[in-house]
Amino acid sequence: MLLYQVTLLIWNSWNFFACSISEDLIKETADALVSSGLADLGYVYVNIDDCWSAATRNLKGQLVPDPKTFPSGIKALSDYVHGKGLKLGIYGDAGAFTCKVRPGSLFHETGDAQLFADWGVDYLKYDNCFNLGIDPKKRYPPMRDALNATGRTIFYSICEWGVEDPALWARGVGNSWRTTDDINDTWASMTTIADINDKWASHAGPGGWNDPDMLEVGNGGMTYQEYRAHFSIWALMKAPLLIGCDVRNMTAETLEILSNKEVISVNQDSLGVQGRKVYVSGEANCLQVWAGPLSGNRLVVAFWNRCSKAATITARWDVLGLESSTHVSIRDLWQHKEVKENAVASFGAKVDSHDCHVYIFTPKTVAHSES
Ligand SMILES: *[C@@H]1O[C@H](CO)[C@@H](O)[C@H](O)[C@H]1NC(C)=O
Ligand SMILES: *[C@@H]1O[C@H](CO)[C@@H](O)[C@H](O)[C@H]1NC(C)=O
Ligand SMILES: *[C@@H]1O[C@H](CO)[C@@H](O)[C@H](O)[C@H]1NC(C)=O
Repeated sequence: MLLYQVTLLIWNSWNFFACSISEDLIKETADALVSSGLADLGYVYVNIDDCWSAATRNLKGQLVPDPKTFPSGIKALSDYVHGKGLKLGIYGDAGAFTCKVRPGSLFHETGDAQLFADWGVDYLKYDNCFNLGIDPKKRYPPMRDALNATGRTIFYSICEWGVEDPALWARGVGNSWRTTDDINDTWASMTTIADINDKWASHAGPGGWNDPDMLEVGNGGMTYQEYRAHFSIWALMKAPLLIGCDVRNMTAETLEILSNKEVISVNQDSLGVQGRKVYVSGEANCLQVWAGPLSGNRLVVAFWNRCSKAATITARWDVLGLESSTHVSIRDLWQHKEVKENAVASFGAKVDSHDCHVYIFTPKTVAHSES
C-alpha cells in the first residue's frame, strides 16, 4: 500500500458514456483534458470504466481488450495517454464477471494485476458484481497484494458500493472505497449520497479516502446551482474528484465549475481531513453549514441551502470550534474575493435555493480549539 497524501483528480467514462466507449474516445478525452486546461489543474487520470474488455479471456487465460472498440490494445493507449503527461486508469471486478458481464478478476488476481502493470496502467477501479456471495473483506485484499507484487504504483479504488461498511475495514486494503450505491444525475441522489458519505468522515485521511462516487457535473440533470453545490461538497469531503461528463463538449458553466482552482485546492489540501456537516437549521434541516480544518490553521466553511427558497445561513464560531472573540477574514471561493475582513462571533449570508457558498476562514488569532 502506498500512502496517498491527497485525493486524485480524474476523468471516468461511465457516467456519460456507459458502454459506448472506444480507444478513440479515450484519446480524444486525453486531448480535451489538456486543451481545456483541466490537466494543468491536476485532472491527470483518464479512467476507462466497464466494457473495455472482450467477452471472454484468451487461450492463455488473459483478459483481452474488445477487438472492435480497442483494436490497438491498452498498452498503445497508455503510451498515448502517458505521452500527454497523463495517467491511465482501468476497471475490473472482484467477482466472476463485471457488471456488464465481461470476465471478472476474482481468482485471477495475480495474472490480471501483472497484465495491468505490463500495460502501464496507473489506477484500478475494482467493482462488486457477480461476487458469488463471498465477503468483500476476503475478495478485495488479494488484488491489493497482486498489484503490490507487480512493483508498479497503481492506485487501488475499491467499489463495493458501501454494502459492508468499507470505511471500517478498507484502510490498508484500498486507497479509496465507495461508501454508497451508484450516483444518478439528480438532486435527490446527490444529496442522499452526500449525507451517507458524511457519516464516515472520521475514517478518511491520507492513504484512504471515502468515495461518494463520480461527479455528474455537466450531464444535464441538475441546475447550475445544484452542480456547483455538488462540486463544492465533494471537494470539501475530500472525495476523489472524478469528472463524469464529456470533456470534449462542455458548456462554459461546466468548465467554470470543474476548473475552480480555489475549490480544487480545498480538495487537495495537505491536511487531508474530510469536512462534515456541522450545523443544520430550517425546515427539515435544509439550511446547512459544512466545515472542516485546512492546513495553515484555516477552515473551509460551506453554506448549503437545500430548501426551496433563498435564505440566510449563519455560522456561529462555536459550531466551527472557534472562540467567539476570534477575528476571522473570509474569502468566497465562487466569487473569488474577500467578503469580510474582521468577522467576530458569527457570519451569515443569503444563499439561493440549492446553491452552495464556499468560504475559507482565516483566523487572525490562534484560537481554533481541537475537537
Ligand atoms: C507494496 O507494499 C509495501 C508494504 O506495504 C509498500 O512499502 C510498498 O510501497 C508497496 N509497493 C507498491 C508498488 O505498491
Ligand atoms: C440511482 O438510480 C437507481 C435506479 O433507479 C437506484 O437503484 C439507485 O438507488 C439510485 N441511487 C441513488 C444513490 O439514489
Ligand atoms: C454537445 O452538447 C450539447 C448539449 O450541451 C449537445 O446538444 C450536442 O449534441 C453535443 N455535441 C456533440 C458533438 O456531442
